[in-house]
Order: sequence, then structure tokens, then C-alpha cells
Amino acid sequence: MLSQRVEDHLKLVLQHLYINPLERCNLKCKICYTRKTSPILPMETIVAFVDAYQKVQLLTTITFCGGEVFALEYFPSLVNTMTHRGIFVQVITNGTIDQLDKITHPNNVNLIVSLDGIESHHDANRGAGNFRKSISFMQKAHRLGFHLDVFSIVHKNNLGSLDQFESLLQKELGFLPTVTYHPRKPPTYLNAHPISNIFGETREFDFLTKQEIIELMKTRNVFPPKDLGCYQIAVASDGKVYGCCEGTLPLGTLHNTPNELIEALRARLDVWSQTDMTIGCLGCSQHEFMCGIKEYLVELAKIDS
Ligand SMILES: C[S@@+](CC[C@H](N)C(=O)[O-])C[C@H]1O[C@@H](n2cnc3c(N)ncnc32)[C@H](O)[C@@H]1O
Repeated sequence: MLSQRVEDHLKLVLQHLYINPLERCNLKCKICYTRKTSPILPMETIVAFVDAYQKVQLLTTITFCGGEVFALEYFPSLVNTMTHRGIFVQVITNGTIDQLDKITHPNNVNLIVSLDGIESHHDANRGAGNFRKSISFMQKAHRLGFHLDVFSIVHKNNLGSLDQFESLLQKELGFLPTVTYHPRKPPTYLNAHPISNIFGETREFDFLTKQEIIELMKTRNVFPPKDLGCYQIAVASDGKVYGCCEGTLPLGTLHNTPNELIEALRARLDVWSQTDMTIGCLGCSQHEFMCGIKEYLVELAKIDS
């Protein structure tokens, strides 16, 4: 049985879908951990799934991620279809492909732009000139009325300059967006994930130690969040449906009904609640995986208690 706190959280989480229409990308990041597989979900498949979902479940938000979703020609039209229905759309993007003018309701869209530190660190990973490109994209988006957040990968070499990075964002944008730091996926994640398991380069981007990740979790806004709860119905580009954006074991596929997928997620949380060692976390859809940071969370819980 789920605790009332987890039940309440699940109720909210089910109002928010995560959809990955493709894994292909226009950039070749040196430390990207995801495999660039070929399937691409057609727009009609996504709309049909959202239709079916809305018949059984209140839906307020969809987060789209990739790959790079702005590389899809249909993407602005998909966003417009969703905002027209009153759904708030979030887009995780590298901010290097500008299709902003085609989006009709910027105020119903949050662009989460990935910036991996100050210009030299960002461009070392994403390629020369891409920091300035993404900043220009954000400046234009801000003028047009989009909401903006930042996701930022942290590794050994940029760990010491996070305050400098935030001052730079403030200077470039005229405000400081919410920054969510993503500790570079540790080997314990990469070794356990059957698909998203690219090690990438380490020379300028070394992995953080366990203690550095724990310290980052204590002091910054991070993903995964330290009290977890980051599960949701998450659709992948091959039609499999997971219990979170980092899932390894599918709940089912797009051929299942939304209710079957929701019940499968609930069953996963039930298992988690029987095996939880993290004390007070909101839960995880894959208790055996937990993004490779289970022991970090257990240690963090000991420090907090
Ligand atoms: C795989 S990307 C796809 C979306 C988009 N192309 C972008 O760059 O934002 C999704 C998120 O994963 C983050 N990411 C990529 N490689 C990572 C790694 N090795 N460790 C942690 N996060 C990573 C990216 O920075 C981005 O915020």
C-alpha cells in the first residue's frame, strides 16, 4: 500500500506526461549518454496517445525531450496543438535550432535550455559557437514571452564555477532562470542502463565522486531530486512506455491503454514502498536501479536524519 504522501504525489505526477519523439540530435556532445537510435514517433501517434490519455486522466503538462525536438519539422505544430487544448508544454532543448516564431502561445511554453557552464565549458562539450547560439535563442524567447529554465551538466571541471555560471546567466539574460544541475551520469548509472550507456569523453569532463554528488545534492537544485518522486508516464521514441524518463524496464507500450500503464506504474511504486531504504523519499519506479544513485540517497538520508 502506498502512503498518503506518495498517493498525493502520484495523483499530481499523472497529470504530467513525458514524451521523447526521437533520439537523433543536431549536436554531437562529447559527454552525452544517450544512444542516437533511429525511430521517430509520428505526430499523429503522439496526438492519438494524448487523446486516449485525456479520456481517462486529467492532463495539465507535457514535457518533450529528445534527441533534439526542434529538429522535427512538425514540432511547432505539435506544441500548438497541445497548448490550444490548454496543456502547458515544456521543451528540453539545446537551443540551437530556432523555430520560435512558429509557436503561437509562448506564455504556455517553458523552454528548458541545456547550458553546461560558462562558455568555454559549454562549447568544449557541445561545439564552438553553441553557447552564444543558445544564449541568443534564450534572449529571443524571453522577448517573445516564453518561460525559461536551464538544465546544466556538472562534472569535475565545471564544478568549481557554478556561481560564475549563474552570474553570467544573470548578466546575459537580465534575470536568473531556475537552474537544475545534472551531475554527469555516474558509471553506476551507465553500467546498469541497457540503452543510455554511452561513457563519452573524460579528459575535460571527469565524473564527480560520490561525495561531490552528495554535496551537490545538498546545496543545489538537482536532477534526480534528492527526495526522488521523478516518476511519470514516459513515452520513448520506439513506442515503449517507461515509469520515468530514465527507465530501463518498460511499463508497457503505446498499444497498452493509459489505464494499464498507470496501474503498472502504481505497482512499481508499491514494490518501491516495500523496499525503501531512503527514509521519506517520494519513491522511484525502479527501486533496483534508482539512476545508479541508490547508495548516495541512503547516505544522504543518514546525514539528514
Ligand atoms: C539527452 S538531452 C536531449 C535534449 C536536448 N538535445 C538537450 O541537449 O537539451 C537531455 C538532457 O540530458 C542532459 N545530459 C546529456 N548528457 C548527460 C550526462 N552525461 N549526464 C547528465 N545529463 C546529461 C542534457 O544536458 C539535457 O539537459
